[in-house]
Amino acid sequence: MTQSFAPAAYPYARPRRLRSSPWVRRLVAETALTPADLVWPLIVHDGAEDRVPVASMPGVFRLSPKAAAEAAKEALALGIPAVALFPNVDGAIKDAIGSGATDPDGLIPACIRAIKDAAPGIGVMTDVALDCYTDHGHDGVVENGRILNDASLERLAEQAFIQAHAGADIVAPSDMMDGRVQAIREALEANGFHDTLILAYAAKYASAFYGPYRDAVGSAKQLTGDKKTYQMDYANSDEALREVALDIAEGADAVMVKPGMLYLDIIQRVSETFKVPTFAYQVSGEYAMMRASIANGWLEEDRAILETLHAFKRAGCAGVLSYFAPQAARLLAG
Ligand code: PBG
Repeated sequence: MTQSFAPAAYPYARPRRLRSSPWVRRLVAETALTPADLVWPLIVHDGAEDRVPVASMPGVFRLSPKAAAEAAKEALALGIPAVALFPNVDGAIKDAIGSGATDPDGLIPACIRAIKDAAPGIGVMTDVALDCYTDHGHDGVVENGRILNDASLERLAEQAFIQAHAGADIVAPSDMMDGRVQAIREALEANGFHDTLILAYAAKYASAFYGPYRDAVGSAKQLTGDKKTYQMDYANSDEALREVALDIAEGADAVMVKPGMLYLDIIQRVSETFKVPTFAYQVSGEYAMMRASIANGWLEEDRAILETLHAFKRAGCAGVLSYFAPQAARLLAG
């Protein structure tokens, strides 16, 4: 005798059974967040002090190379696999082509070396973009008010090479010029850096949520105009898939969607479509808005932090860049 099942309905189906105790909730959890999912972005600077607080990002400091090395050791101890470096350099070295970006003895190479000395087991990711080094605050080379694509590629490829040479494990172009992944990959291959990973900020949107970061790295003051001719329009979703497809074809090992919390739909489409390691960046503005709510007592700190980070895993992320990384790793360690 065959029995046909109608979908179970109440009272046979009681979804609350699977939530009825902590052990069963743990048993049936579909996704997990661990410290191994986190990348800690570090703002580094060439100033004299070891740690300078960033006003718009409470709990975040501009670090000297020595302090960055200490942070990397802390990350390692917490089980965080990698740190990502972002530079705040003295305004006096900024110029039109971002010369500081390709200085082999510059701030980022110094930080990479200090970190590799102090915490050899940690992965070091570097930002490939000119904005922190240019007097106009754009990610590429500017001529007569236009951001030049192809002239920027040479500068970006050289910057990535300098970083790899100093010991960077992952170079992460965040500039959104067309063809930059290929230019970087060719420069790396030509110089024997066959194992250097490229994590492409493939779908990076022109966002209001980078504000506190631009303050932190000191690029806000000089930014002329906006970044809408190279960063994506937040009205678009299919375009993100085209960007990701190009970056993979050009040699990216992994891709990033940025910002994070507002773009979970994009993360999900990208990870489901391409099945490549997909990362998200919970950016400075997302961090700042949460910190402000927490400071006011409007959000419960620990729960809110873990819930936002877990959302990225649910959406399909391999990992998340977050300024909350060390705090979250401590919470996860229980
Ligand atoms: C620029 C860059 C930005 C961030 C990382 N790399 C900002 C921008 O495009 O202006 C933002 C990070 C954050 O907001 O936390 N190449």
